[in-house]
Amino acid sequence: MKNAKIIIDKEFILGDIDKRIYGSFIEHLGRAVYEGIYQPDSPFADEQGFRKDTMELVKSLKVPIVRYPGGNFVSGYKWEDGVGPKEERSSRVDLAWQVIESNQFGMNEFVDWTKKAGSDVMMAVNLGTRGIMEAKELLEYCNFKGGTYHSDLRRKHGYEQPHNIKTWCLGNEMDGPWQTGQKTAREYARLAHETAKAMKLLDPTIELVACGSSFSHIETFGDWEREVLEECYDSVDYISMHQYYDNKAQNTPEFLAKSVDMDGFIKNVAAICDYVQGKKHEKKQINISFDEWNVWYHSAEADAKLEKWVAQPHQLEDVYNFEDALLVGSMLITLLRHADRVKMACLAQLVNVIAPIMTSDTGAWKQTIYYPFLHASNFGQGTVLNTIVKAPTYEAEVGDAPYIDSVVVSNEEKEELVIFAVCKDLTEEMRLTCDLRQYADYVITEHIVMHHDDVKAVNTEAEPNNVVPSNNGNARLDGGTLTAVLSPASWNVIRLSR
Ligand code: AHR
Repeated sequence: MKNAKIIIDKEFILGDIDKRIYGSFIEHLGRAVYEGIYQPDSPFADEQGFRKDTMELVKSLKVPIVRYPGGNFVSGYKWEDGVGPKEERSSRVDLAWQVIESNQFGMNEFVDWTKKAGSDVMMAVNLGTRGIMEAKELLEYCNFKGGTYHSDLRRKHGYEQPHNIKTWCLGNEMDGPWQTGQKTAREYARLAHETAKAMKLLDPTIELVACGSSFSHIETFGDWEREVLEECYDSVDYISMHQYYDNKAQNTPEFLAKSVDMDGFIKNVAAICDYVQGKKHEKKQINISFDEWNVWYHSAEADAKLEKWVAQPHQLEDVYNFEDALLVGSMLITLLRHADRVKMACLAQLVNVIAPIMTSDTGAWKQTIYYPFLHASNFGQGTVLNTIVKAPTYEAEVGDAPYIDSVVVSNEEKEELVIFAVCKDLTEEMRLTCDLRQYADYVITEHIVMHHDDVKAVNTEAEPNNVVPSNNGNARLDGGTLTAVLSPASWNVIRLSR
């Protein structure tokens, strides 16, 4: 059996967790909107056409912020097509996903939906095929009190009070050749800066996210962030990061090691932010919005065969297995371990499209990746302790990968301490210890474990509870030392409280 040791100190705090790291994403893509969150003709629909079964699952995930309307979709989107009386809205082609968009659901419906879900909106503006003026007009429509053309248009559409959307993304993946209206770093930097200036003139209370790189190994990485920040440092607040991982090679140890790549990616982006800060003698720090992250690859073959120019096809409908849940758990741990820098993050996406929640005409169910996200968003609140993990490692393409990913979160308000850990050893148990004498009056309340003997096991509508967590872990406290024997290939949440 391998041994791992977590070292913490009550006073040695990494940073406060911004609850927005448990954000998610709804794009006009596949069945995320239509049939996912909105289906007026469904028996599950409420009076606004929102699916109540999906809503309940989203609420359990406690998603504080949801990015909308894309994604690649936003780069061809005219927001005006999706507001006003539904019978007057027309269908449009969507170049990003080569489908037809009916516009029956738009920005106002999304704001209503987020209110019911208990979330805030992270709105993206189109900087692919549109520019400063359209972004300004959308902001005016959403946030201006009234008495101007666009704010009065909102009132005419039934929304007397402004939506007051605080968080805005300046385009999406503008470095990517797949993006409609891709830009060079210089082109994007100028446009983003001028758009940011205009938007903040209209509403100085908003926060803006500039596009970073679309993935860690894209050719332009590094120079892209530097050039964008050199131009936009004063006008933006965050730089975005996006990253999806796959197991196309069908090599589980390599796949599970990818959290090491994510960790390095965050460190590198933070270093570039700091370089520009130093060069400009700036006091302000640019933080990170990791606004797209997940596992994504299972649906690639099926997607390549899809008929084009239809509405809401079954697109990007990855069926997640148990090993995906383990990596998602590790990615959540990685985000937490950078809580001092990553202030927002969005699991991409939320419903039907590379999502933790799936729907059909007869119901909604939870994919495997639903559970680590549920545990992290529900129990991973408070401050992250500067957790040192001593554990054996294995050699992987990304470098030395620890057999365990772990983080400790302290919630002073609730007097709770939570250890999240992924055991990546696929065959052997691992003994985990942690000296908790500083928490002398704490007791273990539960040790949640998610394990399945088959890393390829999935949940389906017919078998929705094939891979589920249980609280049958064996963590115990003895003389101030916590010991847990972790199952091979397992997601663990050990909760202690006073
Ligand atoms: O989330 C799916 C797609 O992935 C998004 O539209 C895009 O931003 C990214 O490439």
